[in-house]
Amino acid sequence: MTDHQDLRSLINPEKLPQHVAIIMDGNGRWAKKRGHNRIFGHEHGVEAVRQTAEAAAELGIRFITLYAFSTENWNRPKEEVEALMRLLVMTIHGEIKTLNDNNIRLRAIGDLNSMSAEVLAQLNDAIEQTSHNTRMDLVLALSYSGRWEIADALKKIAIQIRNGSVQPDEVDEKLISAHMCAPDIPEPELMIRTSGEYRISNYYLWQLAYSELYFTNILWPDFRKKDLYKAIIDFQKRERRFGQTSEQLTNDIE
Ligand code: IPE
Ligand code: IPE
Ligand code: MG
Repeated sequence: MTDHQDLRSLINPEKLPQHVAIIMDGNGRWAKKRGHNRIFGHEHGVEAVRQTAEAAAELGIRFITLYAFSTENWNRPKEEVEALMRLLVMTIHGEIKTLNDNNIRLRAIGDLNSMSAEVLAQLNDAIEQTSHNTRMDLVLALSYSGRWEIADALKKIAIQIRNGSVQPDEVDEKLISAHMCAPDIPEPELMIRTSGEYRISNYYLWQLAYSELYFTNILWPDFRKKDLYKAIIDFQKRERRFGQTSEQLTNDIE
């Protein structure tokens, strides 16, 4: 057996996270180490996306969200932003068939209207063409940030309060959750960040409240199936207490 099959066999299929959220970080450093520009790193990140999506679908994970472009990433040099957008259009267009062959539905969360009409058209086309797929949802977080999402949800709720359909004392966690970008998607049980940075960088701030966080030094373009397996194995060893004591959790099972 190969190393990666060994690892896969250590995963308990009964205890899989339903939703894994990933911060794909380290493309620039990966390229720099090889004497190339940052864009070269982004181009090589695409293979890691493919491998990760395939591994997640094979395992039976229902949702995977990939942080592909943050609200703050708009502040990067113009050439890099343009190259990322070009890469996005090309990749999305090129992957529609593979997504359909693998029964994977593409979705997107974020301030999508801030993207160019061309990027948005390609994105919507791929979303539309894969909308019937049911095995796994591959969610791209694009022009996304957790604070933007929370502010956007509050704006929608404020409008309902103004028109009288919601009363102020009806605003609770459930109502706020229902106004997030994709309220049908369960909160991620596991969040993975590559590249050795130990921060959230404005990802899923609301939804990560009780997620298990996993950090790896691997730079995103090097991330492969085995690295996803390692994160899930680590996740499965943890005890999720949600504020309770360890004893309470054991009693619950009995
Ligand atoms: C992640 O890699 C990709 C995006 C944020 C779009 P980076 O581009 O952040 O790479 P580093 O972190 O500078 O190495
Ligand atoms: C987070 O990575 C955003 C994405 C992966 C899309 P960044 O590289 O932008 O985050 P910081 O700047 O290191 O916090
Ligand atoms: Mg980075």
